[in-house]
Amino acid sequence: MSLFFCIYVTCLLFSSARRNDVPVIGILAQELHVQRSNRSAYIAASYVKFLEAAGARVVPVRLSRPLEEYKRLFNSINGFIIPGGRASVVSSRFQRAAQIFYELAIEAKKRGDYFPLWGTCLGFELLFYMTSEKTELSLTNTSGVMLPMSFTNETKGSRMFRGFPTQLMEDMASESLTGHSHKWGLKLSNHKKNKVLKNFFKVISTNTDGRIEFVSTVEAYDYPIYGTQWHPEKNAFEWRKPYIPHSPSAIKTSFYMADFFVNEARKSFHRFRSEEEERRELMYNYNPVHGSSTSPFEQIYIFG
Ligand SMILES: *[C@@H]1O[C@H](CO)[C@@H](O)[C@H](O)[C@H]1NC(C)=O
Ligand SMILES: *[C@@H]1O[C@H](CO)[C@@H](O)[C@H](O)[C@H]1NC(C)=O
Ligand SMILES: *[C@@H]1O[C@H](CO)[C@@H](O)[C@H](O)[C@H]1NC(C)=O
Repeated sequence: MSLFFCIYVTCLLFSSARRNDVPVIGILAQELHVQRSNRSAYIAASYVKFLEAAGARVVPVRLSRPLEEYKRLFNSINGFIIPGGRASVVSSRFQRAAQIFYELAIEAKKRGDYFPLWGTCLGFELLFYMTSEKTELSLTNTSGVMLPMSFTNETKGSRMFRGFPTQLMEDMASESLTGHSHKWGLKLSNHKKNKVLKNFFKVISTNTDGRIEFVSTVEAYDYPIYGTQWHPEKNAFEWRKPYIPHSPSAIKTSFYMADFFVNEARKSFHRFRSEEEERRELMYNYNPVHGSSTSPFEQIYIFG
């Protein structure tokens, strides 16, 4: 009887210890270039919906906050997204906050504390700067194009695509389902030449603008750090650019990328010190507004 009880309790502990089904993910705010009174940062609602659709809740991570506040948030949330936008990857409020979370995630992994981090577009370019302390970017002709995934020999062994349906992988390789909206890219040849980047990041896909072959999807070999030069969140949630596809495979692309990252967050067991503190930080405290007529976003959250 007592043996049975022990086994039962152990099983319960193990099954609940293996997975966190109430993940909370931080999204870093981005510099707002159109000044709205004293508001100077925003989060595009598409990133929020992207994560929510896969079973996570979201906390906004604001710019210009003290280090102590970022550390407290880091210890409370289960993953972190560095979004696209326009800011310096060398010195900006955006870069400072991203760098703090990146370093905390690296230190955490060394202690056995799993904390996944994701960079999209500018956030992706920033990953390379934070890893190599060099800007290795080149100008690419990719401002608003949809491209098919050009998978590499490393894709099969990647964590990111392990759970993807074969049919979706085929569609991603043959149809233009990934949206690129960037002026800079990391040349594949520069990834190979830079020892630090080469040893840190596995290249899972590349693309070309017709002239330059650049890295478009990566995952770190030894850390739960991921990135896409393209925008997985747009297909399902942004409608303002005619080139964004909304086909069933395009929507599945959004969903499976989010599903992957939220599952990574389910491996993190950070939590807020109290339910009250969690409630205070969640995105539910804020309302999105329509993007302005020139904005590429349907809805954004605006912060000071
Ligand atoms: C920003 O403006 C709002 C109202 O326009 C005001 O309530 C708030 O105190 C201001 N915040 C800062 C930091 O100045
Ligand atoms: C950039 O790409 C577009 C198509 O996406 C093409 O029409 C244009 O000629 C290209 N420009 C240069 C300078 O290669
Ligand atoms: C990928 O694998 C194929 C077949 O094994 C091989 O011919 C090719 O050289 C490999 N490419 C790279 C970049 O390693």
